[in-house]
Amino acid sequence: MAFKVAIRRHGDPVEVEIGQTILEAALAAGVPYPHGCRSGNCGACKSRLHAGEVEMAPYSEFALTPAEAGEGLVLACRAVPWSDAEIEWLDPNETVVHPLRFMTCRVVAIEDMTHDIKRIRLGIVSGGPFAFSAGQYAALTFEGQKPRDYSMANRPDQPELEFHIRRTGTGGASHFVAERLKTGDLVRVEGPYGSSHLRANHAGPIVAIAGGSGLAPMKSIVEEALALGRGQPVALYFGARAERDLYLEDHFARLAALHANFRFVPVLSEPRGPTSRRTGFVHEAVAADYADFDGMKAYIAGPPPMVEAAARLLQERGMRHQDIHADAFYTEAEKTSLAGASGGVP
Ligand SMILES: Cc1cc2nc3c(=O)[nH]c(=O)nc-3n(C[C@H](O)[C@H](O)[C@H](O)COP(=O)(O)OP(=O)(O)OC[C@H]3O[C@@H](n4cnc5c(N)ncnc54)[C@H](O)[C@@H]3O)c2cc1C
Ligand code: FES
Repeated sequence: MAFKVAIRRHGDPVEVEIGQTILEAALAAGVPYPHGCRSGNCGACKSRLHAGEVEMAPYSEFALTPAEAGEGLVLACRAVPWSDAEIEWLDPNETVVHPLRFMTCRVVAIEDMTHDIKRIRLGIVSGGPFAFSAGQYAALTFEGQKPRDYSMANRPDQPELEFHIRRTGTGGASHFVAERLKTGDLVRVEGPYGSSHLRANHAGPIVAIAGGSGLAPMKSIVEEALALGRGQPVALYFGARAERDLYLEDHFARLAALHANFRFVPVLSEPRGPTSRRTGFVHEAVAADYADFDGMKAYIAGPPPMVEAAARLLQERGMRHQDIHADAFYTEAEKTSLAGASGGVP
């Protein structure tokens, strides 16, 4: 047995088998439904349920807040229909749908950015062209490794893909990159994914907040915003533990010299010894610098505790939920435990 789910602005209804999610059925039917993690963690598939009943599998409150759920919004990747239904993915002006690509790429450069972050550049060998919006990510599969999500650090118009990969643990993909990846190796790249991309139509001030390798998508976003030439104030706050964890400072200093509307603010949370730099948590530095966030958009990426603290603080200071675009770098293990826990991220 299957239920019929009509997808607004799309042709024929999609047949959804019992127990299947709307997103699974839509993608299988070739519908370009916006999505990212497929596990209720990112919010990219957020949709309005116009009619019918669905049961929601557990998801993170980061992806769908209780207020949004109360307004009738659902996550298509967690919504299993119990009846025929009608659904619409959220605000077409806010959602970009680039074709999903399955590409083979070649490593053309590997550089040490810090003691635990490598920058890799990839050339597309086959499966392109690759269109994405600044701030999105892709699933990278290195030889013998499981796919892992990494955010593009380059501007979308640049032909080489750039990623910043921080080594975590001792056995996974990031360890492989740190220890064994070499130029000339092939990498499978699937994407783009994610909804925390630059809203190119927004003309107001932008604050980008990065922690660690979260600098990758923030680099793409601020560079793209500056290239669009709207002239709005753009600030990039980069949180790192100590001096040795900072990178690309010269690059952003050059960018600031070229664009009077751009500011780069490194913030150290655990400086080793006296320093002339800003210190403390990066979101606290942002809070100290702005009287209010009216008309602004915030983009945030990095470790989940930092992203959650920054998003919470901005909301407490009056920023609307829809003006905060955040990617928490959950590990696969964290994603699984979030998806398995009812209630999710506070
Ligand atoms: C949307 C999104 C975008 C992302 N973008 C980036 C990016 O641009 N750059 C980037 O560096 N990462 C990014 N990540 C994180 C990345 O996808 C991986 O989770 C990370 O590289 C770890 O993968 P792994 O295969 O090396 O480790 P896993 O196989 O997941 O874990 C291997 C071992 O390491 C341990 N481990 C994993 N993470 C940590 C940690 N943080 N601290 C301590 N131990 C740990 C695990 O417990 C396990 O024992 C992103 C994640 C998401 C969801
Ligand atoms: S695709 Fe549904 S929440 Fe990420």
